[in-house]
Amino acid sequence: MPDFTLKIRRYLPESGEAAFWQEYTVDLEGHRSVLEAILTARAEQDGSIGIRCSCRAAICGSCGVRINGKPGLACNTHLEHVAGDGSEPITVEPMGNMPVLKDLIVDMDAVHWKKIQRVTPWLLPEGDPPAREYIVPHEAMVDVTQSMACIQCGACVSDCLSMEVDPLFIGPAALAKAYRFVGDPRDGARHERLEDLSEDPHGIYDCTHCFNCIDACPKGVAPMSQIMRLRRIAGSDEEINDRNNGHRHETAFVKNIRKNGLLHEADLLPDSYGGKFHPRAVPELVESLPVITTALLRRKVTPTKALLHPHRKEFKGLRRIFDEIEDKDQRLELNLYVTGVEDEPLEQAAAEEERGPHE
Ligand code: SF4
Ligand code: SF4
Ligand code: FES
Repeated sequence: MPDFTLKIRRYLPESGEAAFWQEYTVDLEGHRSVLEAILTARAEQDGSIGIRCSCRAAICGSCGVRINGKPGLACNTHLEHVAGDGSEPITVEPMGNMPVLKDLIVDMDAVHWKKIQRVTPWLLPEGDPPAREYIVPHEAMVDVTQSMACIQCGACVSDCLSMEVDPLFIGPAALAKAYRFVGDPRDGARHERLEDLSEDPHGIYDCTHCFNCIDACPKGVAPMSQIMRLRRIAGSDEEINDRNNGHRHETAFVKNIRKNGLLHEADLLPDSYGGKFHPRAVPELVESLPVITTALLRRKVTPTKALLHPHRKEFKGLRRIFDEIEDKDQRLELNLYVTGVEDEPLEQAAAEEERGPHE
């Protein structure tokens, strides 16, 4: 059997020392998991290694760690997939954005579960309960299946860039959980939930679309997609114009691209507050001066480019995209977790039946 070397980030709170790295070599088949390697090292070499685990089958969500710098489940990661050519050890460290309690164990209560509780993670039905059971259309439940697949492992929270900058951000796992109830037809507090998540400065408009949570999630929940769905329902369907200007900013962004072909940063800010002459434009501009100054200093934008924006000449392809999207009567929501083929259209099936069996 091949040897695999694990380089584990250790932290022993009782020692009063800072965290350090320690290596362990284990003799296991390549298809065995990183969790099995850690448990083998603990059983045979060092009983003090701390790791949380239970099911060992990617179901309970308790063995979230960072492996070679990426978040994931230790029990769901094969050694041969992360060992490379074997010249470097496999690094295993605790998840990010949560305080470390010991070695690979993080304080999920302090961050993850607190945020889950923040979104009222239970149904709030309206009126008296029905005499028998609630009848829910099949499509409605399919719509929330993706967010229901969450096993609360915290991998998405670990690598959320917004949460790193703003620890108060509600975060990917909790917002995916929020969609599970917003999308449920039995819930009677849809508008209130969306208003709450839009008005909170650390709510749905605090996500920066970095895609890390989509990459991190071992269950295909795609939290960022659920957040975008919350935004579309809040802004377009429920017409919630939040005080953070999140919805107005999104609308201004689309308008800006449609008009200029390329984003014209100098217009985006005032447009997000209702235009250059809107009473809020000047105070908002003054408030944004530190951000603008940083952007200028880092040459993200230059004064010439900001004022003399090079408008795109060729609009044909771009306009076609806008026309195609805006022509639709109904918004098409894709639940990416549910895969399969569409049933045959009824007319086609009827025509085939009429033609009789194939020869
Ligand atoms: S896409 Fe949004 S929620 Fe997901 S990790 Fe990035 S900032 Fe966080
Ligand atoms: S959304 Fe995915 S990564 Fe985040 S807690 Fe749930 S299962 Fe884990
Ligand atoms: S031990 Fe349960 S998900 Fe890994």
